[in-house]
Amino acid sequence: MWVIGTVLSRFYAFGRNGPTLSRRSMSSHLKLKGESIVKDLSLCRHEFPSLARTGPGGRPLIYLDGPGGSQVPASVITAISRYYLLHNSNTHGLFVTSRETDHVVSQARQHAATLLGAATADAISFGQNMTTLNFLLSQAVAEQLAPGDEIVVTDLDHDSNVAPWLRLERRGIVVRRVPLLSNGKLDLDAFRSLIGAKTRLVAVGWASNALGTVNPLWEIRQWADQVGAWLLVDAVHWAPHGVIDVEQLRPDFLLCSAYKFFGPHIGILYTRPGLLQNLDTLKVRPQSEAPPERIETGTLNHAALEGVSAAIQFIASLADNPGDSLRDRIRQAMSHIYHYEHDLAARLYRGLSAIPGVKLYGPPVGAEDRAPTISFTVAGQSAPDVARRLGDRGILSWDGDFYAVNVVDTLGLRAQGGLVRLGLAPYNTRDEVDRTIGAITDIAAQAAD
Ligand SMILES: Cc1ncc(COP(=O)(O)O)c(C=O)c1O
Repeated sequence: MWVIGTVLSRFYAFGRNGPTLSRRSMSSHLKLKGESIVKDLSLCRHEFPSLARTGPGGRPLIYLDGPGGSQVPASVITAISRYYLLHNSNTHGLFVTSRETDHVVSQARQHAATLLGAATADAISFGQNMTTLNFLLSQAVAEQLAPGDEIVVTDLDHDSNVAPWLRLERRGIVVRRVPLLSNGKLDLDAFRSLIGAKTRLVAVGWASNALGTVNPLWEIRQWADQVGAWLLVDAVHWAPHGVIDVEQLRPDFLLCSAYKFFGPHIGILYTRPGLLQNLDTLKVRPQSEAPPERIETGTLNHAALEGVSAAIQFIASLADNPGDSLRDRIRQAMSHIYHYEHDLAARLYRGLSAIPGVKLYGPPVGAEDRAPTISFTVAGQSAPDVARRLGDRGILSWDGDFYAVNVVDTLGLRAQGGLVRLGLAPYNTRDEVDRTIGAITDIAAQAAD
């Protein structure tokens, strides 16, 4: 209980006084790494009340579980509470709290559009989570397809971007699967050859939540363009780690989830303007025919939407110049996040590579575009055993397949419980990385005994 008391007292301290760090002090922390400048973001950890709690043995927890959902800053928690304290209502009523709720929804759309680089807020729909939105979308897309039409999915993707499309096989749609190579990358020759005259949709992830691989989306966009196919991008794993610009990439659909980028549990769908209004979505009759509401079944989680706006503001707050536009601040903050997390990821990758018995999966960190997500196995131990031992030391990791089922099957790791996954976030530190490397060194040595 005292742990919860500590966390709550910090939260309320934040609620009253705001974050204790000034932006000036944060932006003054620059350090040199090789030739590039990496902004030290770790000071933002003071804005995350949950980081104050301790775990086994009274030690601070090391949160490397971000790919399953990041921690949440006080500003987001406060925004969600404030909604219930002040604005709680349903939408479209002719009274003050309902009008305020309409504003909360439209602000969240505007924030999400800015995060993704969309020209209009009407391109943004919300839903329970990415998976539910993708199922709704796949059912609507199916109404446009005929038996024999083809959809391309990949063996690197989270199942939320595979299962909804496989389900269409029962309507006679042919689903083609791009194979995964043992180096953790998609077989791009096979990918190219699977896209043909009958392809109607290509469903691919931006970054792998299991291996950190980043896919060559601009090339894939061109391949889809050549046959007039739609491109659907699962950006759930990329959104916390790098810039997204839908105007540049031109996906037809792009999905992400706010709980991966410091927000609450809510799914976000970008649809290319002009597309959603022609899709036959599952909806109740009084629901708006117009996008973006056309695919939003039932009442949205308004408090969470207030949290979405606050989470995007939090990201923007990591930029240097508060006077810049929100989009510019997001771009800069995302660039800081990318470099800061990669500095940590490279350190972690190097440290783990040197441990006898540890095998790393996915593209090496540093050589190419990558998400700061590192998966490994330890010889002689199952993935759950390693994750449990890390958990006993207060280090939070994930084990298994993380719903990227075909990844673990392709790598032949099913019998040993899949992979152990560590994900880096701006609130992680070099010290945490070093302690994690030390703990895994001990765990691997135990296996060798
Ligand atoms: C890459 C990727 N796609 C999709 C999802 C599913 O997201 P949601 O939980 O919002 O349905 C996840 C969740 O972990 C993910 O990592």
